[in-house]
This record gives sequence, C-alpha cells and structure tokens, in this order.
Amino acid sequence: MTALDAELAAYAAANPKSKALHERASRFMPGGDTRNSIFWNPFPVYITHADGTQLTDADGNVRTDFVNNMTTLIMGHRHPDVMRALHEQVDHGISYPAPSPPVIRWAEILCERVPSVDKIRFVNSGTEATLNAIRAARAFTGKTLIAKCEGAYHGNHDAIQISVTPPVSEAGDAERPDPVIMFPGINPAAADDVVIMPYNNIEAAERVIRSRAGELAAVIVEPINGQCGMVPAKPEFLQGLRDLTSELRIPLIFDEVISFRAASGGAQEWYGVTPDLTCFGKVIGGGMPVGAFGGKEEIMSLWDPNHGPGQVQHAGTFNGNPMTAAAGVATLELLTPEVYRELERKGDLLRQKIRDLIAELEAPMGVTGATSLFALQFTTEPVTDYRSYATNDKVMLQTVFTGLLNEGILMSNRCAGNVSAVHTDEEIDEFVDALRRVLVRAGYG
Ligand SMILES: Cc1ncc(COP(=O)(O)O)c(C=O)c1O
Repeated sequence: MTALDAELAAYAAANPKSKALHERASRFMPGGDTRNSIFWNPFPVYITHADGTQLTDADGNVRTDFVNNMTTLIMGHRHPDVMRALHEQVDHGISYPAPSPPVIRWAEILCERVPSVDKIRFVNSGTEATLNAIRAARAFTGKTLIAKCEGAYHGNHDAIQISVTPPVSEAGDAERPDPVIMFPGINPAAADDVVIMPYNNIEAAERVIRSRAGELAAVIVEPINGQCGMVPAKPEFLQGLRDLTSELRIPLIFDEVISFRAASGGAQEWYGVTPDLTCFGKVIGGGMPVGAFGGKEEIMSLWDPNHGPGQVQHAGTFNGNPMTAAAGVATLELLTPEVYRELERKGDLLRQKIRDLIAELEAPMGVTGATSLFALQFTTEPVTDYRSYATNDKVMLQTVFTGLLNEGILMSNRCAGNVSAVHTDEEIDEFVDALRRVLVRAGYG
C-alpha cells in the first residue's frame, strides 16, 4: 500500500458522514458542490460549524483551519465584532434598492488606506473585480490587449482564464509563453486578446510588453501569486513593471484579492509600488461575498452616471449590499497596523519552523510565502514562477494534504495556507508537529 493509499483509507474511515453527504450532494450538484477549488478526492468534508481557528465537520472531526475560506477570514471565524455588526445589520434589513451609509464608510476606509485608490466600486466577487478593472482599462485606453502572467489566477471569466495552470508541454517558451485556454467553454478568441509574461522575470516580461506596447490596454499582476503557492513578486519585478508601464502609458492593475492581507494599504504599501487600478476581494468583506475595484479618478470617473456619453454601465443587484459592508467595515476596523505586524510575525515564524523541519528531515521540498501566506512545495527547485511551481510532485502534494486532514489540519487542496489574527503560536507548533508525522509516514526523514 502506498503512503497515499494509507492516508486515503484512514480518511475514508474517519469521515463516513461526509462520504454519505457527498453521495447525496452529487445527485444534485456536479461533483457534489459548487466550487471546484474546494473539491478533493475521494470526497471533501462537509462543514457544520466554525469558530475562531476551528472547523467541525459532519462526523464531528475538529480541524485547525489554515485556509480561512481561501485567505478571506483574516480575523478567524465568527469574530465577535464582525458577528455583532452583522446581527445589527440584520435588524435593519439585509439588502436595499438604494445605497446605505455603511457602504460610504467602507469606501472611505479603503480609499484612505490605499492612496492609489481615489474612487472605488463594490461588486460581489474577486472575479467581478478583475472583470471590471480590465473593462475600466479597456474603456480608458480604447484598446483591448491584456498582459498577464503565466500561472496567475485572476478569477473565473473568459478574458483571464488563460495560462493559469497550462500543461508545460503546451505552453511554449518559458520566456515568451503561449496563451493557453484553460478549459472548454472559454471563448477561443479570448486568447487573441492576451499576451503572457513569465512571473518574476522582468527582462522577459519587458520584451513581451514592449513587443505589443501599442495595443495594450493593461498589464495585470498579482503582487503575491496565490496560484503558484503564495509566491511573492521580486521587488524589482513589480517596480520594473511599474516603470515600464509608466513609460509606455499602459495602465497597471494590481490584483490584490489575496495580497491585500500584506498591510493595511495592501501589497502596494508593503512593496512601495503604486498601480493605476486595484482589484480587491476576500478580506475586505469580512467573510461575506465581495469584490471591489478602484483607482485613479480619471479612470474611475468613467463609471459616474453624470459622466455623459462614454459612461460605463455598471449594475449588480447585490453590489455594495449593507450586510457585506457591515462585515467589511467591522473587519477593516479591527485590522490595525499592530494586527498586520502580528500576522507577518506568525507567517514568518511558521515558514521558519517549516524550513527547520525540512532541513531536519532532509526532505526534498520547500516552503514559499510572504506575510501571513504560505505554501508547501514538493520540489527541490526554488519556486519563483509557474515553470518552477510545475515541477511539484503531485502525488506527494495529495499525500500530505490528506495526511494533514487526518491529523486535524486543513490546508487548501494545493497545500497552500495562511494564518489569521487568532491563530496562536501553539497552533503553529501543532501544524509543524502534524506535518512532521505526515512527512515521516510518507517516507521522508
Ligand atoms: C488573485 C485572485 N484574483 C481573483 C480571484 C477571484 O475571486 P473570487 O473567488 O471572489 O471570484 C481570486 C480567488 O481566489 C484570486 O485569488
């Protein structure tokens, strides 16, 4: 029996109710759920309760959550201040057909904390945020072409579902990757409107951008790449993109849907590099469905209904809904500079302890990440971009993910994780001890 088979057998034995729920769910929803990102083999656990750092599943198993709904719950589950704000808003009504005061406070906080954002618009997902930021850049420039990085996920719409996790054999030259459409159903023409840059290679990215400079509506980049394992941009890569796009007068979009965890002003503050447009999601909604995009007045004014001809139409039944605004404001108000310092300290501590463990076991693997974000990499190559990420041993990845589930730890199914403000140093030690047991069971050490 392989280490993976042993972990899967233990998992199946410990989660019979989730298995039964999955069989029932699969009768009504393809794959038993509505998000492929939280599916794993042979079936996911079905959660019944969450509190602080702890998740309880249908079988009564309790696990420490290092996913936090894909980096969203920066204050952990059910923080009392966020719950209070939501309860109060319930008492005042949950959605209105006109704007409400909490949305103004929410916009005010974000514009104050992110100096590159003069004006902001709220939507309901990070997908809508990048969709609208790209539309903004296209409306502003009158051009269509977008430059994005290989291995970058910017949401689930056609313009950007290109070269997210392409088979390397189909992806062409590493320094000038071909655009690869990710799955059936994406408009094939979308690939004609994208050029692909390698992440963290400013010389190659510059060649790609300069070769199509006159056609580019925007360059979009994630300052900390989530898809490849929370891989931070090299400072010279981000600054290089800024300098180049300023010179060529191409709007630069930062997708801060994840990286807004880095500092109160997001990764743009953490790096000291300023984009023209920013996409937000996750953290800013306090656990409620959310997205937002914002930037320079001259671009965002295209959304103003007073703008006259050329105004961009933008509706959305739940945009800026008061429930999300209430949870978002409560969360952002909790996020003081001190909380960000603590998040970064805990992230640094966890990554250091994982590095120490890897050295102790002489395990052929690594850890990536920045601030409160981290990921395990089952490769000896330093992971700095998609091609190095693609060298991961997929079987080890699944073995360790399943093993950690059996040890009472939840990571994402790609072994990425993050700490919240309520994780303790003891929970970090427990994570590392659990990882040691799983790696030893898998034959390392
Ligand atoms: C960097 C990035 N951009 C956009 C999105 C899309 O956000 P949502 O899942 O809210 O649509 C995600 C989601 O994980 C993301 O990580």
